[in-house]
Amino acid sequence: MSTIIKARDIITKFGTNIVHDGVNIDIKEGEVYGILGGSGSGKSTLMREMIMLQSFQGGDIEVMGKSIKNISYKDAIELKKNWAVLFQFGALYSSLNVIENVSQPLIEYTNLPKEVIEQIALSKLKMSGLKEEATYLFPSELSGGMKKRVALARALAMEPKIMFLDEPTSGLDPVSAENFDRLVRELASLLNLTIVMVTHDLHTIEHVLDRFCVIYEKKILFEGSLEEAKKFEHYALREFLKVGKN
Ligand SMILES: Nc1ncnc2c1ncn2[C@@H]1O[C@H](COP(=O)(O)OP(=O)(O)OP(=O)(O)O)[C@@H](O)[C@H]1O
Ligand SMILES: [Mg+2]
Repeated sequence: MSTIIKARDIITKFGTNIVHDGVNIDIKEGEVYGILGGSGSGKSTLMREMIMLQSFQGGDIEVMGKSIKNISYKDAIELKKNWAVLFQFGALYSSLNVIENVSQPLIEYTNLPKEVIEQIALSKLKMSGLKEEATYLFPSELSGGMKKRVALARALAMEPKIMFLDEPTSGLDPVSAENFDRLVRELASLLNLTIVMVTHDLHTIEHVLDRFCVIYEKKILFEGSLEEAKKFEHYALREFLKVGKN
């Protein structure tokens, strides 16, 4: 498998607060990759750096072979077409119904006719496992799990190669979270998507991720599969995987 995202020697500072002090990771094409670590360890920041929403003070990140350190505005726009981001709750437009929400990126970024956009939106909703009856409902009429599915359908609308998710199951009850996990796993294989997600959910770690990294003391303590993590002798990692159970 080839590397699709490569971070080298990343240094991130907010004033005097050093968050990353030489972070290195390799995300392979087609895998579901997790970013783990304690609260405030810099997981979301690292993900935001990969999608160019956050600058870093040292090192470089290559996405699909392209360095983002000194990327031009034009190249950045081109590169951004390759991914979708699923933000946390509240990401849907409350004034638009479900199908309008999913259609929105297609209306904004393509010149496809209205009927085609509607068909694509319907197929993405189906893929995300949303009940057909919900197609014309508004976000306020949906459960948390349904909202996540709509957000997922919208993220899939532009057929991304990479999908970024930040704590996608937070705020869901355990059953909805497990269903969402299963869906993410299925879509990853079906669409050959590379998925990068920040998570601390032990179910997700066990059942969804192919590999993950753990940020600890500003660096990468571990990168690999759960099998490898179990053999990795470090109290912080053991403690961390245990903590995740609660
Ligand atoms: N825009 C910002 N300005 C200043 N400090 C920031 C900013 N964004 C993040 N930080 C700091 O960077 C550190 C890492 O934050 P980050 O949100 O990446 O952590 P996290 O690992 O995602 O934590 P959590 O699990 O709580 O979401 C924290 O100390 C935070 O205060
Ligand atoms: Mg975070």
